[in-house]
Amino acid sequence: MKVLMQDQKIWITGASSGIGRALAIEAARGGARILLSGRNAEALEATRQLCDQREHIQCLSCDLSDTDAIPGWFEQALSLLGGLDVIIANAGIGQWGTALDTDDAVEHRLFQVNFEANRRLLKLYARYSRANQRPGLFVGVGSIAAKFGQPQLAAYSASKAALTLYLESAWREFHSSDFAVQLVHPGMVQTDIMHHSLGPDGRTSVPEKAHRGMDPERFARRFFRALNSGGFEHYIGGTELLSVPLHALFPRLFYRLLGR
Ligand SMILES: NC(=O)c1ccc[n+]([C@@H]2O[C@H](COP(=O)([O-])OP(=O)(O)OC[C@H]3O[C@@H](n4cnc5c(N)ncnc54)[C@H](OP(=O)(O)O)[C@@H]3O)[C@@H](O)[C@H]2O)c1
Repeated sequence: MKVLMQDQKIWITGASSGIGRALAIEAARGGARILLSGRNAEALEATRQLCDQREHIQCLSCDLSDTDAIPGWFEQALSLLGGLDVIIANAGIGQWGTALDTDDAVEHRLFQVNFEANRRLLKLYARYSRANQRPGLFVGVGSIAAKFGQPQLAAYSASKAALTLYLESAWREFHSSDFAVQLVHPGMVQTDIMHHSLGPDGRTSVPEKAHRGMDPERFARRFFRALNSGGFEHYIGGTELLSVPLHALFPRLFYRLLGR
């Protein structure tokens, strides 16, 4: 399925800031009908204001850590958009804290938002698609952090790794159907993710410096180009992406370079 066609119905989660906001702006340029979701209603409206053809953009406030409420939000999304062609499951939270110091509740929350919410959304959407004989595309947003463990990011890395393998398995299961699954791994993108990340006690930690990386608008353009090229897994970023093959092929060298 080609993404960004006129009037295509797209639900973007985590659209109140960063990558999700940039994806919404880019999708609106392509003429899509978009549902923006996130917890912060004001910030969602701010995203809407930045989009072309605002009359085609709607907002839905929801907290994806409340995973039992997800079937209800899925139904709401369907009725607001009048169908669903694509879900871009972008919402996610980062962390900053060692495994030893981080509260269990914080790690649970990271898994709820980064993995469990997306797992539930994927199943609801795939079942809807099959029941209505309608093609669909579910796009997950992973991270290169899914590819190797990183200090201070244990639950984040593990939640993204779980998402990666779940979606890869689903992609293979849906192989001969009209339901497609894709996964985009951002490298470093210049957003406020560090500022929103959870510290060991669950409070958001204040970053010492701004998060570096690719400009989100550039990332968004490459994101849709990648989806339209087909396949399952895509990496978008700069030289930091080299860490993935380096870790896979030369793990000892990788850890030596990092000073372990
Ligand atoms: N920036 C990077 O370098 C980078 C690298 C690799 C992967 N990623 C991934 O890219 C995605 C977007 O991150 P970003 O960099 O754009 O960070 P961000 O600016 O912090 O955006 C995160 C988005 O997720 C939403 N979100 C967080 N918790 C939520 C919850 N409980 N319920 C619903 N929505 C929730 C936030 O909305 P509300 O606060 O309004 O709820 C926000 O819109 C994430 O999955 C992240 O892991 C980013």
